[in-house]
Amino acid sequence: MSYETLLVETRGAVTLVTLNRPQALNALNSGVLDDLIAAFAAYEADDSQRCAVLTGSGDKAFAAGADIKEMADKPAADFYLEDFFSKWTSDFVKKVRKPWIAAVNGFALGGGCELAMMADFIIASDKAKFGQPEIKLGVAPGMGGSQRLTRAIGKAKAMEMCLTGRMMDAAEAERSGLVARVVEHESLVDEAVKTATTIASMPPMAAMVNKDMVNAAFETTLDQGLIYERRLFQILAATEDKAEGMAAFIEKREGVWKGR
Ligand code: HXC
Repeated sequence: MSYETLLVETRGAVTLVTLNRPQALNALNSGVLDDLIAAFAAYEADDSQRCAVLTGSGDKAFAAGADIKEMADKPAADFYLEDFFSKWTSDFVKKVRKPWIAAVNGFALGGGCELAMMADFIIASDKAKFGQPEIKLGVAPGMGGSQRLTRAIGKAKAMEMCLTGRMMDAAEAERSGLVARVVEHESLVDEAVKTATTIASMPPMAAMVNKDMVNAAFETTLDQGLIYERRLFQILAATEDKAEGMAAFIEKREGVWKGR
């Protein structure tokens, strides 16, 4: 399937999705959102695909934010009546249960930073820059930035970034816990696909459960989270892949996964 705003290819069991509006620094208009929902739904439905990577085309940007030109003349009532940006949560983040990585290759600003933070984790190029500059436009984060950035890097830095609109470079982002790893710009996609291939080689249901458990830490108390973790662990204990994984370890061979 082809998309107006995305390039999608598969590399083995890894789906590589590239935001493809380089002339607008991959700004996120409603076409991008619809395409992303469709591309990730296709990834989710394809049993041969076990991890995805999202990156940006061009050398400069992952995504420079929500499309300012699309928002500039939009009446305030329309933002409210359309519940603008709600699809990011309802049709995108929550419906993607399989793992995916954001490979941030340049500017990740505003909605671009927020999109990267929707990923399970971020791998950044050494040229990446993160920021929530919405305040300079007279607005504020609208796709989760105030919440996810604060959870990722803490109140002091998140507040400073939202109130000043300053950008954070890749090294500071790694120090602050926003990104899992920084790699050389030229090898970003290869490194992200390599990491995704490792994830794709794991028992797929266990990968989904591990993702689910970690995400639960953001939604629950510690006690509730620990119970949730234990119950999911107990469910995995009943899978064929658990029997295979433990047998393979004892027999000193690689496991062969059924995904159930
Ligand atoms: C639409 C954008 C854009 C954006 C860049 N472009 N960002 N178009 N929406 N978010 C377009 C420019 O208009 C320009 O098009 C082309 O991309 C290249 O951009 P330049 O500005 O010429 O590049 P450069 O000088 O290198 O500066 C790069 C930049 C700057 C620092 C990233 O583009 C920038 O500040 N962009 C806006 C970043 C931002 O404010 N993001 C937050 C958006 S609001 P033309 O046609 O002129 O060549 C948001 C929050 C949503 O995301 C929630 C609100 C409720």
